[in-house]
Order: sequence, then structure tokens, then C-alpha cells
Amino acid sequence: MIKIPRIIAHRGSPRAAPENTLASFRQAAAEGAAWVEFDASLTFDTRVIVFHDDDLDRTSDGSGPVSQTTFDVITALDAGRWFAPAFTGEMIPSLEEAIEQFVALGLNFNMELKTDPGREVELAETALPIAIECWPASLPVPLVSSFSLQAVAAAKEVAPQWPRGFLFDRLPENWRELGASLDLASFNANQKHLTREQVMEVRGAGYAVMTYTVNEPARAETLFGWGVDAIFTDIPGEMLKHF
Ligand code: G3P
Ligand code: MG
Repeated sequence: MIKIPRIIAHRGSPRAAPENTLASFRQAAAEGAAWVEFDASLTFDTRVIVFHDDDLDRTSDGSGPVSQTTFDVITALDAGRWFAPAFTGEMIPSLEEAIEQFVALGLNFNMELKTDPGREVELAETALPIAIECWPASLPVPLVSSFSLQAVAAAKEVAPQWPRGFLFDRLPENWRELGASLDLASFNANQKHLTREQVMEVRGAGYAVMTYTVNEPARAETLFGWGVDAIFTDIPGEMLKHF
């Protein structure tokens, strides 16, 4: 089974710094996190940036869809001021910048492929080669995941040696077939719908179970008690005090 820590910093440390920015990843490392999760998205001109939403509006001073905006425009935006004045000047990182910083900070990562319709394969085929190029082969291999089956399948083609996780809201009935055909390392579940029986079955079949987004230590305690391998959390430092 894939070796992952119990606590994974979700988009960095997004209560303390603007999500998916270099500042947020630095903060997660400073809080003691060993792994971070981030979202990888394609720009209009097929560059990979670290960004969660479809639209730029919530977490930057830009507006409109990421998929319709060029890399140069996106990387000139401010991605910190919306969060707090002290973060003014924080930028939306390129995938290369993010991974270079993970290496410098000694962080490992889960790259979530955030697809837009019709470009699932393109995202995997663009992001994986960059990640492989930027990540030293001597370090433990990161995890790549997606809600998109197409993206996970494309990741398997491009980077068969990189472990894969399938993200979902509710465990699909055909999870055993998916696990085998995509050669998955993990099933990454919404903690709201996950059950103890599912955790036992999926782990019993040899897969890791990871779950998002867990921000209550009591809930984390329950999930770990069921055998969950890792939680994605917005409060990595606080969770690391407990687990
Ligand atoms: O990868 C876990 C989690 O990040 C999935 O949901 O919307 O936070 O990207 P979301
Ligand atoms: Mg995510």
C-alpha cells in the first residue's frame, strides 16, 4: 500500500494563508505537514497552474473562467489580497514553481487534476510530464488524483509509475473494477458519505482510503478509528497536535 502520512495539508494551510499559493505551502510546512494537496488546472493556452475554482473571481483579483484566460494574464493577478492585506502580491503559481518549492521545503504532494470538460486527457498529458521533470527521481513518488476517470486513465498512460487516486463524492458501485483497471493506489472519499464498512472493504482489497475535507479533530479520530489512512485538512498544524 502507498506510504502516506495521516495528515495532508489541503491546498496548503488555507485558514492561515491564501489557498494554493506558495505562501500557503510554506505555512503548511512551517506547521509540520509532510504532504500537501493542491489543484492543477489548465489555462486557455495549455499551461498548468495551481488553482482550485473554475473561475478566477473568488481567490484572485481577476474574473472569468481559468480555461478562457491565458497563463500570462493569470500569473499577473494578485491571489493574496482577497484573503488579507498582508498577502498582497501573492501570485497564482505555475506547476513548476509549486513543485520547485515543495522540493526546497521537503514536502511531498498530492496533485489533484482539476479538469474542465473536454480537456481531461490534455490536462493529464500536460501536467504529468512537468511534474516528472520537476520532481527528483530520488524522492518518494507523489500521488496524482482526480474526480475525472478520464484524467486518471490518462495519468496511467503518461506516468504508469506514479501512484493514482480516484476522487469521489460517493463510492461508485463498480469501485473494484475501477481499482483494477486504473491500477489505483487509493480511493479518495468525501468524508460526509464515507462509512466504516466501505473503509474496511476498500482497505481489505488493498487500497488506501483518504478522505476530504476533515476539520474537526473528533471526526478525524472517528475516521482513523475506522482505518482511514489519511485526511485532507484545512488546519494541518492543529490536526498534527492530535495525530
Ligand atoms: O483532493 C481532495 C480535495 O481537494 C477534493 O476536493 O474541491 O477541495 O478540490 P476539492
Ligand atoms: Mg483539491
